[in-house]
Amino acid sequence: MIVTTKQLYQVAYGKFAVGAYNVNNMEQILGLFRGNVQSQAPFIIQLSKGARKYADKRMLESLIRTAEKMFTDAIFAVHLDHGDEETCYDCIDSGFYSSVMIDASHENFEENIAITKRVVDRAHQKGISVEAELGQLGGVEEDIRVDEGHASLTNPEEAVEFVKRTGCDSLAAAIGTSHGAYKFKGTQGLHFNVIEEIQKRIPGTPIVMHGSSSVPIEEVERINAAGGKLDPSARGVNENEYLPAAKLGVTKVNIDTDGRLVWTRVHREFFRDHPEQFDFRPPGKIFVEEYANFIAHKNEKLGSADQLDAIRASL
Ligand code: G3H
Ligand code: 13P
Ligand code: ZN
Repeated sequence: MIVTTKQLYQVAYGKFAVGAYNVNNMEQILGLFRGNVQSQAPFIIQLSKGARKYADKRMLESLIRTAEKMFTDAIFAVHLDHGDEETCYDCIDSGFYSSVMIDASHENFEENIAITKRVVDRAHQKGISVEAELGQLGGVEEDIRVDEGHASLTNPEEAVEFVKRTGCDSLAAAIGTSHGAYKFKGTQGLHFNVIEEIQKRIPGTPIVMHGSSSVPIEEVERINAAGGKLDPSARGVNENEYLPAAKLGVTKVNIDTDGRLVWTRVHREFFRDHPEQFDFRPPGKIFVEEYANFIAHKNEKLGSADQLDAIRASL
């Protein structure tokens, strides 16, 4: 069942984080639904501009609506990830999306506010909630590259003004993470002090953590042992930090890269071990199962596992 993102946040805020998983194809959608039902977790399925272009937005909508019929226990929201203004309006008008993200974080503060406010006004007329970003994560966001030196953590004082003036429903904050597989060096981690300061100033506003993949070292090693060439120093977010962050208001945790690593590992290992094969269905089947297990594991770490009854009771 598709619900609003707000309905999920109302139950989760301050208690656990809802996993927001990016999808691009049928196998991911099957594994995602299977894994969430397996772990009895609510979830957010998110589509990036790149995904909507790759698979065609109509194809993704059909796949998700079909999965909804196949997995009758599933409770989830549908979200646009890193939208520009035009894509936000397309999603708002489509009648399919529960929420959109307007990402104008690369603009200056005033311009970010102006763009975000326009999207919020239009979304709220249709009961759709809006996530907006303040501060800049390192790494690559869609087609915009942010060099590590230019990444800047969210200023908690500015966050108050930003949320007040835009009326956005949740805040994607830069709290030390970045997109992709290369987030941290050495002992770097989340900036809990920044999360705490934001929550203190805007209690009740869900904070969204982008760039939340954990980039498991075993996964990187297996990919490289099967012919991959990932930098072995790749490091992500410590999964044991998801729940402490959730208690401080981080209510949506975005995960994409880790799922791509599962896909890459399964397919590299399969074709390494079966070089005579050219049927893509056997590795596809393995991937769906592995992806489902991966989702169930993430949900345990996020605290969203076994929360379906609580969500159901709140609807
Ligand atoms: O934050 C970006 C997400 O990982 C989506 O990536 O734009 O390559 O689909 P994508
Ligand atoms: P990762 O690259 O860490 O998976 O982050 C995904 C994300 O933030 C999508 O918006
Ligand atoms: Zn992101």
